[in-house]
Amino acid sequence: MSVNVSMAAIPAAVTDFIHGSHQLLIDGRWIAASSEKTFSTRNPANGSILAQIASAEAADVDLAVAAARRAFEDGPWSRMTPAARAKLIWRLADALEAKAEEFAFIETLDNGKPLNDARIIDLPHSIEVLRYYAGWCTKLNGESVSLSNPGTWHAYTMREPVGVVGSITPWNAPLMMAVSKLAPALAAGCTVVLKPAEQTPLTALRLGQLILDIGFPDGVVNILTGFGETAGAAITAHPGVDKITFTGSTEVGRIIVKAAAGDFKRVTLELGGKTPVIVFPDADIDRAIEGAARSIFSNAGQICNAGSRLYAHRDVFDQLIEGVARRAGEFRVGNGLEASTQMGPVVSQEQLDRISGFIASGRSQGAQVRAGGGRIGSEGFFVQPTVLTGTRPDMDVVRQEIFGPVLCAMSYEEADLDRIAREANATSYGLGAVLWTKDLATAHKMAKKLKAGTVRVNGGGLDPALPFGGFKQSGWGRELGREGVEAYTELKSVAMAL
Ligand code: NAI
Ligand code: MG
Repeated sequence: MSVNVSMAAIPAAVTDFIHGSHQLLIDGRWIAASSEKTFSTRNPANGSILAQIASAEAADVDLAVAAARRAFEDGPWSRMTPAARAKLIWRLADALEAKAEEFAFIETLDNGKPLNDARIIDLPHSIEVLRYYAGWCTKLNGESVSLSNPGTWHAYTMREPVGVVGSITPWNAPLMMAVSKLAPALAAGCTVVLKPAEQTPLTALRLGQLILDIGFPDGVVNILTGFGETAGAAITAHPGVDKITFTGSTEVGRIIVKAAAGDFKRVTLELGGKTPVIVFPDADIDRAIEGAARSIFSNAGQICNAGSRLYAHRDVFDQLIEGVARRAGEFRVGNGLEASTQMGPVVSQEQLDRISGFIASGRSQGAQVRAGGGRIGSEGFFVQPTVLTGTRPDMDVVRQEIFGPVLCAMSYEEADLDRIAREANATSYGLGAVLWTKDLATAHKMAKKLKAGTVRVNGGGLDPALPFGGFKQSGWGRELGREGVEAYTELKSVAMAL
């Protein structure tokens, strides 16, 4: 870990916010949890407690859902024009942009990610998602329908907001996740009860302050900090909630589906992934090395579509692994506040233990550690960028989502696209896939064969307009893009005799 020479100075506004009180946002007011319980959120760079946070339970969920219901059914929100909603969402984007630096610091302190990443990825993307969906408020059209038996009647469809939405978000990109769920819900005319992850509640709470400052009507956005088993489960089971949108583990996704089955809540799930990165012999190997390294080491591998399984043709495998292992060694791991840091700590002791357990299991099943493989220091939750070779499809490290900076590298013998696709698809997940090739036919054929929600060829990032989500056990539905906002609507058909 590098020496602490260039630690960014934390702005006074950030310190003031963190030292302030952190309550629940219900019906336009900050209030303590009815149990008066709190929990602590930590700085993963040193394990220290950053702040005490109100811990919502079922009684608070009742209040928040009632407020969201009132705002949806009779409040000013229900009478607001789409254009007026658009203006509010756009103003939230402007406010976030004006405070971007403050938000970046809060995210780094709470989540651990490099300040530079928060500045150039999390904040700009969150701002753009708000602007993108502000535009959708006025474009949610139905269609006039050409009937199969035309003549005496006429029909059309229209889109209506689904109602009160419970949004449950994870800790790996806390602000981006909160905004990616809020923006389309608000654009569609829904009201929201948002529960951020207990590990990283701070940016959602700061966003709540902006939402109040801007003047969103009371009850439109309610923010309940708390644990999954209490606050999260109560939101999921609440009869006043019409839709649940969740990003997190496949395991909790399954719990949510069962809870939502009682009254058939609408459900969108963005779950885990085990993204294959497939390198063909004709690829630009230097770019593939850099892309493969960034894909698994960015955000310390805590990205649902991190490229965690590398498949490279045997002719380029050694060169590629040597390159990725070298990059792993070069990645500067440290406190996210240091200017030189490229990879911060993982979010918690729990995740550190989980990742360490996976590396140990890979080793015991015969994998070789080509880079990293251990924890760094004893303070904070730092893991070395790790490359494992000699991994086989039956190993846990290849089958399960590690959610850490651990790459499993495998080679294939011949460029038989069907075989490669079969191996890449041999996972219960289907979120992403990455191809490195200069051959257009290979790229298009493989894109068709891969069972993944997003296929990237030679790079490409995240964009608010591009739908994101998974095949198979990576989830239900899509976020972002048009599909992302339509997921917060019900489609109504109107038929009329002429
Ligand atoms: P998690 O799925 O438990 O947490 C995600 C969110 O769900 C949090 O807000 C949590 O409070 C909430 N939650 C937990 N239990 C709930 C319940 N019974 N009802 C309603 N909400 C509930 O994920 P966790 O334990 O933090 O991480 C474990 C693993 O999950 C990671 O190692 C990673 O593999 C995966 N994960 C995947 C993410 C993704 O982006 N797809 C994000 C976070 C975790
Ligand atoms: Mg924290």
